[in-house]
Amino acid sequence: MITADLTNIRIEKNNFSSIKSVDFNQLDFGKYHTDHMYIVDYGDEKWFDARVIPFQNISLSPATASFHYGQTVFEGFKAHRSKTSNEIILFRPEKHWERMNKSMERICMPTLPKDIFMDGVIEMAKMERDWVPTQDGCSLYFRPFVFATDAFIRVKPSDNYYFIVFCSPVGAYFSGELKVKIETDYVRSSEGGIGFAKSGGNYAASLLPAKKAAKNGYQQIMWTDAKEHKYIEETGASNVMFLIDNVLITPSLSSSILDGVTRDSIITIAKDMGYKVEERKVTVDEVINAIKNKTLQEAFGTGTAAVISPISVINYLNVDYKIDAPKENGFSRKVYKTLNDIKYGIIPDPYNWTIRV
Ligand code: COI
Repeated sequence: MITADLTNIRIEKNNFSSIKSVDFNQLDFGKYHTDHMYIVDYGDEKWFDARVIPFQNISLSPATASFHYGQTVFEGFKAHRSKTSNEIILFRPEKHWERMNKSMERICMPTLPKDIFMDGVIEMAKMERDWVPTQDGCSLYFRPFVFATDAFIRVKPSDNYYFIVFCSPVGAYFSGELKVKIETDYVRSSEGGIGFAKSGGNYAASLLPAKKAAKNGYQQIMWTDAKEHKYIEETGASNVMFLIDNVLITPSLSSSILDGVTRDSIITIAKDMGYKVEERKVTVDEVINAIKNKTLQEAFGTGTAAVISPISVINYLNVDYKIDAPKENGFSRKVYKTLNDIKYGIIPDPYNWTIRV
């Protein structure tokens, strides 16, 4: 059955929901997808035919440009089930739209108008509301992405694209201890590269070093700068922050570091809590010294998927440096609680970050 709604999104409902096959008490990150997807075409220099259709495979030519040259970007944000009303609460989707457009500009793609992004996201939140988990710490992860669809293997920007949003009910990205290895051989991105863009190639670059680190028991790589391996950049799937002498310290944004939405949210909340925040170059040496002289109170990854993930061990040049678990009333626990309370509608959102559906 095909119907049209007020936002001109064509809607084709899936009459065969797979929701009953999902064990919501055992949500691995990214294992399941919901019943629908939002898809918009680009061609002849315009976006057109916005539609929500049953989740399905896409048929593409083997010559499709994005397979070969990586002209693709993605985003990730979450929706939570309100603890105080019947609403679904989307966390900062507009900020993700803004970042997606910055990534798209860098990868030489046409940008996407805000209403096409937001109308589709809100329509998906309405249609998939039953999929938003009720379990603590779980949410519905939205994965918007854009990729080149020209079937043409000369290296050039594509003339045609798909924008797609699909959703996945998720639990925690990291479970158990988070041990990270400071990477001093491989490089994720260099200045002037595409590190700040959320593009597939950055993640492809991380797979081999991450696999090698995992063999030795480290769940993540902590990337350092490409020139000297002296400055900390981010981890494989998140930004990174340190609390040293009660000061929140995080690498400043650059062309090789992702402008994390959770990073930005934590900095905002920390400042409002009265913490001093330093966004600047952070050397590996100062972090290791702070662990040694016990001025480092906390180290943690921050991201939509990671949320706030405390780091228990940092490995540098084959030495493990242990970090105490965060204290019950410590910085990251307090910020996590505020962030979560906003996301779940437990406290008012003073920042206008959330959208309720
Ligand atoms: C996110 O935090 O949403 C990310 O995109 C990280 C991803 C690699 C799972």
